[in-house]
Amino acid sequence: MRTTVRDVREKAGDEPITMLTAYDAVTAEIVDEQGVDVILVGDSIGNTKLGHESTLPVTVDEMASATAAVSRATEDALVVADMPFLSYGHDAKESIENAGRMLKEAGAHAVKLESGPHTVELTERMSQLGIPVMAHLGLTPQRVNQLGYARQGTTAEAAAEMLDLAVAHEEAGAFSLVLEHVPANVAREVTETVTMPTIGIGAGPDCDGQVLVVDDAVGLSTWTPSFVQEFGDVRSEMADAVDAYREAVESGEFPAEEHSHVEDDLDGIY
Ligand code: KIV
Repeated sequence: MRTTVRDVREKAGDEPITMLTAYDAVTAEIVDEQGVDVILVGDSIGNTKLGHESTLPVTVDEMASATAAVSRATEDALVVADMPFLSYGHDAKESIENAGRMLKEAGAHAVKLESGPHTVELTERMSQLGIPVMAHLGLTPQRVNQLGYARQGTTAEAAAEMLDLAVAHEEAGAFSLVLEHVPANVAREVTETVTMPTIGIGAGPDCDGQVLVVDDAVGLSTWTPSFVQEFGDVRSEMADAVDAYREAVESGEFPAEEHSHVEDDLDGIY
């Protein structure tokens, strides 16, 4: 049965909420089959799949296409589409149309906005219109040109600002909140203050749930942040398989007889 926004809210505090990214149908199918609650079609697709150095170049069309693939391949997980850089925030009508595409065309159940003072009103408007919003505070990679990829909320002032913004987004109707790369004690304070579930990445153990980029979690990335645990070694498994294939073709071992088909009637027709 499909996980709903309400299920995610109800799970908070009882059991940890699990969330992973996915960007394609095969990965989404695996993540879904393993019972992960939420699949985030992250704009991290820019780094992980599209060969960009940041998430900034990712377009609404690319997100809609990836989200549609993930939606088609899943039965149970809640699918959340990340809104890419500048697709929201500067013009309410355009922001809502772009977010609406993720639900109407691509089959997502919610969107995520990298949040700040500029997304409070927008979160309220989207929530009123039936677009569930996952907020995102702390390290927000779309602000890389201002903040880099540094840990956020590390001063009393910054932590207080984060707490205020978390409360403002909850009051605006956000159904959950990603906290990225913030001190564990700040994440705990935010989690204890708001009633919406917090989902941490590099935010310690006290959030209501955890999220990782799937490529990092399965061991496909060449580099991972310090807060990541790799739970597999898919990159070297894949490299071994590719190497074995190349060697088999070069040595003539592949394709073998069992991989070939002969039509006897067609022998000697030329
Ligand atoms: O784009 C993404 O993958 C994200 C997660 C790291 C939360 O925003």
